[in-house]
Amino acid sequence: MTMNVPFFDLKPQSLSLRQEIQSAIDEVFETQQFILGSKVDALEQAIAQYCQTTYAIGVASGSDALFLSLMATGIGHGDEVILPPFTFFATAGSVSRIGANPVFVDIDPDTYNIDPSQIEEKITKKTKAILPVHLFGQCADMDPILQMARAKRLYVLEDAAQALGSEYRPYSDSIGRRAGQMGDLGCFSFYPTKNLGAFGDAGMVVANDPLLAEKVRLLRVHGSQPKYYHKWIGINSRLDTIQAAILLVKFKYLEKWTEARQKKAKRYGELFQEIISLVDDFQLPTIQYQNRHIFNQYVIRVPRRDQLRKFLTDEGIGTDIYYPLPLHLQECFSFLKHRKGDFPASEKAAEETLALPIYPELTEDQQDRVVDRIKAFYKR
Ligand SMILES: Cc1ncc(COP(=O)(O)O)c(C=O)c1O
Repeated sequence: MTMNVPFFDLKPQSLSLRQEIQSAIDEVFETQQFILGSKVDALEQAIAQYCQTTYAIGVASGSDALFLSLMATGIGHGDEVILPPFTFFATAGSVSRIGANPVFVDIDPDTYNIDPSQIEEKITKKTKAILPVHLFGQCADMDPILQMARAKRLYVLEDAAQALGSEYRPYSDSIGRRAGQMGDLGCFSFYPTKNLGAFGDAGMVVANDPLLAEKVRLLRVHGSQPKYYHKWIGINSRLDTIQAAILLVKFKYLEKWTEARQKKAKRYGELFQEIISLVDDFQLPTIQYQNRHIFNQYVIRVPRRDQLRKFLTDEGIGTDIYYPLPLHLQECFSFLKHRKGDFPASEKAAEETLALPIYPELTEDQQDRVVDRIKAFYKR
């Protein structure tokens, strides 16, 4: 019997925590408090500590975390924000929705993160912020970005939606700097398939600056303090108590799950050695410096990507493409007047990369099957 390998399978994890999660939900039931409250406070404290920040503010989604961060910095109409075009839509969508213009900078073809060496030429008088994305679970190259931002007095907002617990380049003998704590504000998503996933939408903003943190905290409740007195025009982006209760249960296992992902990534690397020696341009994920990659996704670059993907689908192996069309070529951004060829590294990545199954519960047999079928494709 052939073995199917789903691209992602949430069920084993949810089942293993069924009792614990049901009791946490029961606790919320007893209190009948469904918005914010002590569970959200506790989650915020846990995430702030985990991200090496002083503050964390629970919000309704990762997309709202980005939007609220832009609001809190006062970025708006006519301003420019620098970001990569090879990312999830929300990174640029939030910039546009606030009234600012996304200014794209191409990616480093090895890490798929924004290429810092191309940022400076894009900075204008209108630039207000750099918005690096820690794609797939590895931090963008933050030192040159932070240096440039300091010199030009720009905000740095980190899109760390895929990178909870990811660490950037440790200082010589110290621990790495966690994603989200290096810039002015860090944005996280607890979308169900993230390393820490809710049973619905949820997000978080982390900060060290008390004023920015306070502003995000107020903006998520329509800018009101006290209730019904509005200092700013905010939005409704509160974190549900039930989501926080579930996330608090799951948070206890996050490190263990992340280590399991890392172990599987390492094992893929070992199993793929034979293919690398046989197939030109077959590229595994590249880890820069001594970064701590948390492998929210395991993305390889391969020749004949679309044919390989179809072959794997027919063999019962799930894969995905993050992302098939870079943002500068999206219909909704046609007003930015970009053309094919403007960001070649992003366009090439969109054509050549493939995400393979990686989750803590993926078994060795399943991994062997994925690699075996990829080998079979290239040996045909
Ligand atoms: C890079 C990136 N930015 C932003 C988001 C938006 O997060 P959410 O789906 O929680 O709104 C996501 C997740 O989907 C993401 O992967």
